[in-house]
Amino acid sequence: MMINPFVRRCFVLSLGVCGVTLLGCAQEKPVTPPTTKAVGKATDAEKTEATTPSEATPETTSNQMTASADKDATKASAEVFLGSPELTAGIPGEGPLKVDQVQAWLENSENHLPLEIVLPLGLAVGSSQVQGIADNLMTRAKIELGRQLYFDTRLSADNTVACASCHHPDEGYAKHTQFGVGINGQMGGRNSPVSYNRILSGAQFWDGRAASLEAQAVGPIQNPIEMGNTHEKAVETVKGIAGYEMQFKVIFGDEGVTIDNIGRAIATFERAIVTGPSPFDYYEAVRPFLAMKADDLESLKEDDAESYAKYQAAKAAAEAHAMSASAIRGRDLFFSERVACTACHVGANLADEKYHNLGVGFGEGIDKPDLGRFEVSKDEKDKGAFKTPTIRNVALSAPYMHDGGLKTLEEVVEHYNKGGNSNQWLSTKIKKLDLKPEEKADLVEFMKACTGEVPKVERERLPE
Ligand code: HEC
Ligand code: HEC
Repeated sequence: MMINPFVRRCFVLSLGVCGVTLLGCAQEKPVTPPTTKAVGKATDAEKTEATTPSEATPETTSNQMTASADKDATKASAEVFLGSPELTAGIPGEGPLKVDQVQAWLENSENHLPLEIVLPLGLAVGSSQVQGIADNLMTRAKIELGRQLYFDTRLSADNTVACASCHHPDEGYAKHTQFGVGINGQMGGRNSPVSYNRILSGAQFWDGRAASLEAQAVGPIQNPIEMGNTHEKAVETVKGIAGYEMQFKVIFGDEGVTIDNIGRAIATFERAIVTGPSPFDYYEAVRPFLAMKADDLESLKEDDAESYAKYQAAKAAAEAHAMSASAIRGRDLFFSERVACTACHVGANLADEKYHNLGVGFGEGIDKPDLGRFEVSKDEKDKGAFKTPTIRNVALSAPYMHDGGLKTLEEVVEHYNKGGNSNQWLSTKIKKLDLKPEEKADLVEFMKACTGEVPKVERERLPE
């Protein structure tokens, strides 16, 4: 089994006293084995995929053949913390990827082990909602191939646009322009959403028209105003690059380079991009203890030294990544019945994955609003409804909303405060809020405190 150099402290803690379960990982030394795991069950095709490395010994091969859900299969799968930068560091070395470097990488059978993933503190609450990895196993080799494709402008018709052009690591995995800008400077009518934390998300796009991340990933390649290519030409281009061709052969077997396999690789890379613990998450971990009476904490100290030590660790972590008093007030408003942002921004990724009409893009002078989800479902109630985006790291990805029409988080809060833009399909959950100025500021502070680190990603190192 692969030794993971990126170790974190993980804990699951059930407290009889206040009836809470805490769970999570903080970056540091390992104490107990991580406890939230998700691993795909190998399908037949995937099993072949995992055993393809040409140099795999018979022994490794039989290990890898074992379905990873199997109890004895610990040797067959490697446990990793998603967010660990080594997963996205690229094939070791400098400059354009050489064929012999790709070869050596592919020959290392560890790179083909299905990964048993552990989510970071915060997102870990959603471990049971992980999407897509049963059908598209995560391996280091597949993440790495997807990384290369994500940054490769050669997938576009004129070699100028990559996925990263509109979902850039330096722009919060989105783009600071109102609309995505594709080849020849063309623009659509929607803002680029973020491409991280997709592992907890099913249907993709603002209107959910792609059923999976895999299906989404192949869309932009042949969208005339994005990458402007055809799938056939993109496949041909990728096949013509020796370093790619080799990787597809080993990772996907005889199928090699197909548009679907390009989608599978890119989706796997995107699933490896997760937001790490934010001040909000550290605060949530310690919050149940903060609510405990001094007496109860004292009894905990006496009766359960282990839990008490964990409380102290959570407290220290929360202090090291402190939420301001304003952010804490904002958090309470966000979760309150009165303001109820959590009516929609809920769960580990602070997004319900559902569609709502907030009246964005409705208003005077607009005769043809974007009808969003309605165009997909043809259901009247979906008119003007869009998928709830995540609040995680949202401070990094302005402008906001499906039309990129709101430039700051302050403007977003103002939109909610006035009860959205009225229209006949407005969500019943959207009401005038009458927020005081300091409450608005607190909500913004809270959203800023939802910022956690994303893994460092190699952007160069593409096959020659
Ligand atoms: C020209 C800019 C542009 C390029 C290039 C581009 N995207 Fe996008 N992306 C967008 C826009 C705009 C949307 C929203 C479109 C919509 O919802 O109709 C989007 C949506 C998405 C989503 C959905 C996120 C969600 O919350 O539902 C994902 C994931 C994504 N893109 C990944 C990719 C990948 C992978 C590539 C490369 C294959 C790519 N994008 C290329 C602009 C772009
Ligand atoms: C009825 C469900 C609902 C409620 C309640 C709600 N939101 Fe939203 N939120 C959404 C949807 C849907 C969008 C995208 C709407 C669009 O683009 O048309 C969104 C967008 C956002 C965005 C922009 C994110 C981005 O990436 O563009 C922020 C920030 C946000 N909401 C914060 C809040 C805050 C703060 C509250 C509470 C005051 C709140 N939301 C309440 C559903 C909701």
